[in-house]
Order: sequence, then C-alpha cells, then structure tokens
Amino acid sequence: MFRKWLIATGILVVSGIFVAGCSDDDDDGTAPVSEDLRTRFELTTLGPIPYPPDNHPRQERIALGRLLFYDPILGGEMDVACATCHHPDFAFADRRQFGAGASGVGLGPDRLVSRSVYTNEEISLEPRNSPTIFNTAFNGDESGEPSHMGFQFWDGRVMGLEEQATKPITSRVEMRGDAYPGTETEAADAALDSVLNRLREIPEYVTRFMEAFPDDAALVDENHPELIIDKSTYGRAIGAFERELVTRNSPFDRYVRGDDDALDDMQKLGLEVFFTKAKCGQCHTGPMFSDFNFFPVGVPQEGVGKEVIPGDDAGREEFTGDPADRFAFRTPTLRNVELTPPYMHDGVFESLEEVVEFYDDGCRPRHPSVTDDMMDSILVQPLGLTAEEKQALVEFMKALTDPGTALDPFLLSVPDRVPSGLAPVFGVRALDASSTLPAHEPYELSL
Ligand code: HEC
Ligand code: HEC
Repeated sequence: MFRKWLIATGILVVSGIFVAGCSDDDDDGTAPVSEDLRTRFELTTLGPIPYPPDNHPRQERIALGRLLFYDPILGGEMDVACATCHHPDFAFADRRQFGAGASGVGLGPDRLVSRSVYTNEEISLEPRNSPTIFNTAFNGDESGEPSHMGFQFWDGRVMGLEEQATKPITSRVEMRGDAYPGTETEAADAALDSVLNRLREIPEYVTRFMEAFPDDAALVDENHPELIIDKSTYGRAIGAFERELVTRNSPFDRYVRGDDDALDDMQKLGLEVFFTKAKCGQCHTGPMFSDFNFFPVGVPQEGVGKEVIPGDDAGREEFTGDPADRFAFRTPTLRNVELTPPYMHDGVFESLEEVVEFYDDGCRPRHPSVTDDMMDSILVQPLGLTAEEKQALVEFMKALTDPGTALDPFLLSVPDRVPSGLAPVFGVRALDASSTLPAHEPYELSL
C-alpha cells in the first residue's frame, strides 16, 4: 500500500525528479515493468475541467442544463431531445451507425425515422456517427490542449460546448424536422428563435433560468423576466451540464494513479504496442487519447454524405472549404470507445477488432479517393502485428472504459419529467408508439 502511494505521488507530484532518478542509470532490475510504462510513455490522467470565464459550475445551472438536454421541446416537431442520440444507457452516444433524429420513434439501435408530421416528407438519418458527450469538456483546441473552446464535431466546425449546443436545433435531420417553412437558412434561423420562445412561455424554465444565471437576471427588464432565456444562457446551461460528464475511473486511470493491478498483462502489452509498434499514440495521445488534429485516415464512406462531394463526406473541408483538408477528420478520443460502437465518422466498422485490422493493413479497405500520398506515412505501411498484439490492442482500448462510476448518479439519470410536460427523450411520438418503445432499464454500472 505504502509502495503504491509512493509511486502515485512520484508520478503525480514530483514526476520530474522521479523520472530522473529512475531512468538511464537505474539498472538494478527491481523496478516493476508497470512503473516503467508510466514514465516511458509519460502517461497522465485528465486534469481539472477547463471552465469558460462566464460559465463556472453552479448546481442550478447544471440541473437546468440536464433538463434541457432531455426535453424534446427543443425539437421542431417535439419528437427528439439531445439525449435521443446522446443517451446515458449508451455512454451518451446511441449505438447506431447514423443518428436518427426528427420524425423518429424508439431509442438507440431500435430507433426508426419516418416522415415529418408537417410536410409528410421523409427525414433521413444523420450523415455521421454520434460521438459520446462524456469528456467533451476536455476536447482540445489548435494547441491540442484541453480548452473550454475545444473543437466539436468530426470536422471541428464549432469551438466550445456552449456554441455547439445551438447547432442541433437548427439541423433538419437532427432536431428541426420540417416544423418551419422557407429556405434552409430561413428555417434554421426560425428554429432557434422558435425554441427560445417556447422555453420563454414555460414559467418553470423562466424561474430556473433566473436562478441559474443570477448575474444576467439582475440585468433583465423586470417586466419581461422571460428574456433571461436567450442563445447565451441556453448554450451555457447545456454546456454546464455536459462539462460535468467526466470519467476519471477507468482501469487505465487507476493504473496511472498507482494501482499496478488495474491493468492485466494483456492490457499492459497492448499499451506498449499502442505507443510503439502500432504507432497509435502518435495521434491518439495525452489523457484524452487524441491530439485534436485532423487527418485523412482513408476510412471508406457510407451513408448519405455531406455537401462538398454529393454522396460523400469531405471531412474538415466541409467546414474550411480548403481542398487540402479533404477527407480529414478529427482524431477522436478513445475514452469509453468500447461502449460506443460502431466506429469512425460514418460508423463503418462494427468492432474494435475491425478497426485494428484496418490499421494493421495500412488503412485498408481504403476510401477509393484517398491515395497513399494524401495520408500520414505512418498509416500507409502495414503494421505487421501478430494475432496476440492485435488482441492486446483491443484489450488495452477496453481499459479506457468508465461509464461514470465515480460520478454523481444525478448526472447519469434520465429525469422523470421535464418542464415542457413532454415525455423526456421521446416527446410527442412516445404516445403513439408506447407499445413498441423499449422499456427503460435503470442505468447499470457493470458491463
Ligand atoms: C439525431 C441525433 C442527434 C441529436 C438529437 C443531437 N446530436 Fe449531438 N451529435 C450527433 C452527431 C451525429 C454528431 C457528430 C456530427 C458531426 O460531427 O458533424 C454530434 C456531435 C455532438 C457534439 C460534439 C462532440 C465531439 O466530441 O465532437 C456535442 C457536444 C453534441 N453533439 C451535443 C448535442 C446536444 C447538446 C444536443 C441537443 C441540443 C445534441 N447533441 C443533439 C447526433 C445528435
Ligand atoms: C495519423 C493519426 C492516427 C493514427 C496513427 C491512428 N489513428 Fe485512430 N483515428 C484517427 C482519426 C483521424 C480517426 C477518425 C477517422 C474517421 O472517422 O474517418 C481515428 C479513429 C479511430 C477509432 C474510432 C473511434 C470512434 O469513436 O469511432 C479507433 C478505435 C482508433 N482510431 C484506434 C486507433 C488505433 C488502435 C491505432 C493504432 C493501430 C490508431 N487509431 C492510429 C487518427 C489516427
């Protein structure tokens, strides 16, 4: 016990001295292998949450953000909430290849989309795979370091959780549906205004926003308290909730904190392969296992695609318009990756085994338009991993799993009711389809 404490302290507090004392000349052969892995690969855990200056955590604000996150009042047709695609039962993702938003019925893999109740037009699936909200507080900016203005989305088109929270409301396939007439831009603008107005008409939300934003409340016209609800307070409330969804208790985290037995031998082998022969750690680096940079990895395309190339997804170029960014996607975090299949921006791989095979084969099968010279050279060479090494890589990635075991259960639970009075998560369509909806299981911490 004392020895473990010593190692933990050495790593966390005086790692500089500790490393100097143990590296080159320390050849008495007694240092445990695990200790070597920690210093050799400079393993670290997540630090303090980076908060924006105008959005420090307050209990009332986090609780309000949680209610908004589950309230289908944000959906144009009131049939989809943020939690529809970022649900705690699925590690705040949805276990689907492509998110199923407006017009949908059901949850997770069972959800089906249909037609708008307004126009009777079909509403398709999302063009991309839904990422987890866990640990998005630590998404990095251009420096790669965690930032309250970190990159959001596979193409990094938005910085920061507050700004991000306004986007799903305006997207037709995500939350807007066909509730608003006009061109795409007109409907998108109308959607955000309309949702803010809906919230302003619900007295419980007005009261809760007032309590959550006392500084802003002091400036609001007392004859119009509902004006406390605007784009800024809305975004900050949701951001405040999401930012607390941090998981620090994976076997990997416990190992880095000093528990030698938190990883088994296979996982330790996997860790070593990850940072050496397989070169994964060149991009999946730091405590988030991401450098928050953008790379064309050559993932084959499935799904409806985006705008730049019809039927395809040009990745970062969709945002920057720069052909040099074609097919580049943001390195995703690998925290909780075990819980969020399928994988890649288009969910093309169903298992971690498939992902490892893809990298081992020099990123094949390849997107036909991504040539070797567009890619980082470390990706193009087959890795030559043995069957054991591949298995070890998968086992190591599973050691990054923590479905929030150390979090307040409040942050992981679905509210019984939301201020709109709609069915949380499901909204209006829950009533028609209640017979086919999956029963809601209580959140389970064991896997
Ligand atoms: C229909 C499914 C769906 C709904 C509803 C939805 N999202 Fe998402 N979310 C996605 C998909 C898909 C992406 C990735 C899109 C992309 O990268 O272009 C995403 C990305 C995100 C990200 C970025 C995470 C990262 O690491 O890049 C955040 C944060 C997020 N959503 C929060 C929300 C919030 C808040 C709401 C409600 C206001 C919401 N989502 C509603 C499917 C959904
Ligand atoms: C050159 C940088 C780079 C290297 C090296 C790299 N990755 Fe990735 N990784 C990425 C990018 C970028 C994506 C997203 C690609 C996409 O979706 O089109 C990704 C996606 C993934 C995903 C999917 C995660 C999810 O949530 O969908 C997994 C798992 C993964 N990588 C594991 C690995 C492993 C294991 C290795 C080593 C064998 C590795 N990566 C090497 C950049 C890299």
